[in-house]
Amino acid sequence: MPDQFALPALHRLQQPDSGHHPLGAESPRRPEFRWKRTTREDRKGESAAPPIPGSAAENLGSPLNRIDLKSGYDQNSDRRDFIKKMMKFGWENYKKYAWGSNELKPISRTGHSASIFGNGETGASIVDALDTLHIMGLMDEYEDARQWIAMNLDFTKTSGDLSVFETNIRFIGGLLSAYGLTNDTMYVDKAKAIANLLMPAFETPTGIPLALVNVQRKTASNWNWASGGASILSEFGTLQLEFDYLSNITKNSIYSDKMARIREVLQSIQKVDGLYPNYLNPKTGKWGQHHVSVGALGDSFYEYLLKSWLISDHRDVQAKQMYDEAIDALEKKLLFKSEQNQLWYFAEKKGSRIEHKMDHLACFVVGMFAIQSKNEKNPEKSKHFLELAEKIADTCHESYIRTETHIGPESFRFTRDAEAVAVSNREKYYILRPEVVEGWFYMWRITKNQKYRDWCWDAAVSVEQYCRTDGGYSGIRNVYTKSVSHDDVQQSFLFAEWLKYMYLVFSEDDVVPLDKWVFNTEAHPFPVRFSSADASLN
Ligand SMILES: *[C@@H]1O[C@H](CO)[C@@H](O)[C@H](O)[C@H]1NC(C)=O
Ligand SMILES: *[C@@H]1O[C@H](CO)[C@@H](O)[C@H](O)[C@H]1NC(C)=O
Repeated sequence: MPDQFALPALHRLQQPDSGHHPLGAESPRRPEFRWKRTTREDRKGESAAPPIPGSAAENLGSPLNRIDLKSGYDQNSDRRDFIKKMMKFGWENYKKYAWGSNELKPISRTGHSASIFGNGETGASIVDALDTLHIMGLMDEYEDARQWIAMNLDFTKTSGDLSVFETNIRFIGGLLSAYGLTNDTMYVDKAKAIANLLMPAFETPTGIPLALVNVQRKTASNWNWASGGASILSEFGTLQLEFDYLSNITKNSIYSDKMARIREVLQSIQKVDGLYPNYLNPKTGKWGQHHVSVGALGDSFYEYLLKSWLISDHRDVQAKQMYDEAIDALEKKLLFKSEQNQLWYFAEKKGSRIEHKMDHLACFVVGMFAIQSKNEKNPEKSKHFLELAEKIADTCHESYIRTETHIGPESFRFTRDAEAVAVSNREKYYILRPEVVEGWFYMWRITKNQKYRDWCWDAAVSVEQYCRTDGGYSGIRNVYTKSVSHDDVQQSFLFAEWLKYMYLVFSEDDVVPLDKWVFNTEAHPFPVRFSSADASLN
């Protein structure tokens, strides 16, 4: 296990509940989690290498300055085309300097891989970009990607530990989405081969899967920092869309059977005051440390309950009921308003202590509540969740506009002195995360309020200005200063998520319509399974 995981066990260091805002006493460092959003590792290596003059993707042009972008792009179609150019720029650079590697280091101009991918050249950026290229109509690029996947995508040679969650949402999700868009069965064979390699993770007494698989040894294990050997809620709770779809396409229930077992455990287990803690022991079926969050470690568990209901065309009522109960408890216990301006936010809970912090990741709830609102039959309930989505969309926007770069930080806090701003230097970075623009995309589709498109465009202008380097897009270490320092990683989810949601927000609604497609948590769209003809079945 690499060093970065050798962190103290949280529960032993936890501050007793002081009744105060948590900022006075800095809480113990937890791993920067949701490895989908790798951070710790990515921040390790700022490249010392200076840009190589003249070797960048010359013909793609240099970054436009903020003023140009502000004035020349009033039309949606121009904005959409600009996003497409951003896609091309990131892609061309990946192709030029890192083809086949998982990700690109845009300043070093070389390949990059995070530990979540194990050790292998498994082209995460290619698989993550595939459906976005197709949706944007970049067909030459799409064909290159398909070709690479057909010839080269193979996890059997990967050594080290693969994250089950990340492999599922990016690789299985990306491949199944490409199948959904094209009916090309090559993608199904590839997805199935990968899913089969993950099967050792499910060999536990409860059926709750472990976090990591070693493909060479065919063994599985949990993160060594996780509370008492526990599995993580957002990890084992974010497999269902992919595994059910895979079972449906392959007509083999082995994958969906695993999901049914997880569902059974979660359904029957006693919650803690109605809340789901983030840690569950796969051997005993008992909760670990009582940390509750809609940000890191919890987030997409809630998302997948709702989306299981959506993708089944409202047939999976058990998922919806579990979702309703969980959200009800979250609202009662963790929804707060800031003292200063009554900004709404979801805090976190650590034991009995409330931490008044919201992650950039947690802004995904905007999209979740928006799409829920759209699907609720009860008008009161629909209105309630739209309001929740609007309020939190606004809070997440405040976290963006209160920085120098107009890009939001990794986490922001609410105290007597702080409102929607990062407090510690360790939470001021931005790694090309999509959740905030994702939320605004859904809000645009559902409310048609122009401000959401404008907020998205402002974010695009900022990313172009501060994250673009000559060799591709990079995360930045501090959103509160205009003299940016780059982290030298072009995350694969830039292609899968940020660029896709941005392209869609400036497109018409019939490009990936929300009543026909459900996005997995990596923004890979899957078809709603009982649309049209099947709808008469019940
Ligand atoms: C894929 O197959 C389905 C079912 O036969 C069909 O409705 C859909 O149009 C096909 N999609 C493409 C892109 O060919
Ligand atoms: C797959 O889903 C469709 C509904 O879209 C359903 O009719 C079919 O029976 C499912 N197949 C399997 C094998 O689950």
